[in-house]
Amino acid sequence: MPESLGPKVYSWLDERLGLSPILELALKKRVPDHKHSFWYYWGGITLFFFIVMCFTGVLLLLYYRPGDGAYESVQQINTQIKFGWLIRSIHSWSANLMVAAAFVHMFSTFFMKAYRAPREFLWWSGFGLLSLAMVFGFSGYLLPMDDLAYFATKVGLSIPAVMPVVGPWIADLVRGGPDITAYTISRFFALHVVILPALFIPLLLLHLGLVQQHGMSIPESEQQKPEAERKSIPFFPNFVFKDLAVWLVALNVLALLAVAFPWPLGPAADPLAPAPADIHPEWYFMSSFQILKAFGGWFPGVVGEFLGIAFFNAGVVLWALVPLFDPNTKSGQWGRRVTWFGFVVLAVLIVTTIWGYAVLPAVAH
Ligand code: HEM
Repeated sequence: MPESLGPKVYSWLDERLGLSPILELALKKRVPDHKHSFWYYWGGITLFFFIVMCFTGVLLLLYYRPGDGAYESVQQINTQIKFGWLIRSIHSWSANLMVAAAFVHMFSTFFMKAYRAPREFLWWSGFGLLSLAMVFGFSGYLLPMDDLAYFATKVGLSIPAVMPVVGPWIADLVRGGPDITAYTISRFFALHVVILPALFIPLLLLHLGLVQQHGMSIPESEQQKPEAERKSIPFFPNFVFKDLAVWLVALNVLALLAVAFPWPLGPAADPLAPAPADIHPEWYFMSSFQILKAFGGWFPGVVGEFLGIAFFNAGVVLWALVPLFDPNTKSGQWGRRVTWFGFVVLAVLIVTTIWGYAVLPAVAH
């Protein structure tokens, strides 16, 4: 390429697309640098897994067939399509790692108090993103229609069904009838590849736009320092290169997991067969599953299920409203109480998840 072509192409594009202001902003932007900076990378890691998930998802779409032949099409991807098993494994692993990274990101922004004014909408949009990511996982779990997917979805959909009045109606609407059939696959497929991306992508753009708008928050320990002592690094190229290095590590972890533990495909679902005794949802639903099971055991009948749902929903609503309870850095007592609330939520999530796995009956598959 002749030497002068680069600047010429740039100024041609700049005239038409207005690139200069964006470039100036990126060059001016700085990112705080302190002993907690490590946690700033987790939103980016979540984003990386989301991008991989989209890319591999599109490749899977080339062969996946929703409806009656769903199981056979996934079998074909796994055994006949070149590298099909790898693409499927990377897709499933990146989906799980994305949810895991989003949890780490959520708790790290929580304990750094990054939800405080004026970042409330960052918290709420993030909360919406994680909720949608979990529905992505739930809807994707059924698509291969193997026995575990079938029975886990059946159990999963029995949870909203216990809600009074609207519960059975919601469950029937999602299933496309009283049972899980090819109609359910079609509905889950539409949710997974059309409705959820249409909601997730604009919300993600809002989330990332708000990060640009407000810049990164500074933890309390740093805020106490005089401004002259606070360190920062340029966003471009320093932070971007560090971010890319972290993405490279994430890619390695993903590749190792996807190759060493290829995503399994069980036998085709048989609605007439008894449900496997160790049936359970994905790990990120295990906590809610176990809380509902525990309440069901303590208070037999519909009362237990209802109390379980009420307890869980109360926790989720309080968690979403955290920015309103702890709006600014001078809130003293409230700030500390909210931090304790975070520890309690984290402990409940971890303990009930471990408890859920510990009480599953051992079954040889
Ligand atoms: C699920 C997909 C998500 C993606 C792709 C994502 C992406 C990002 C990125 C790239 C950043 C800037 C860098 C960083 O702080 O890591 C960020 C910041 C932020 N995110 Fe998320 N995020 C997601 C979910 C969440 C969730 C679940 C929450 C909390 C409920 C959340 C709350 C925040 C907050 C408060 C900030 C500002 C951090 C600060 O100013 O220090 N995000 N997000």
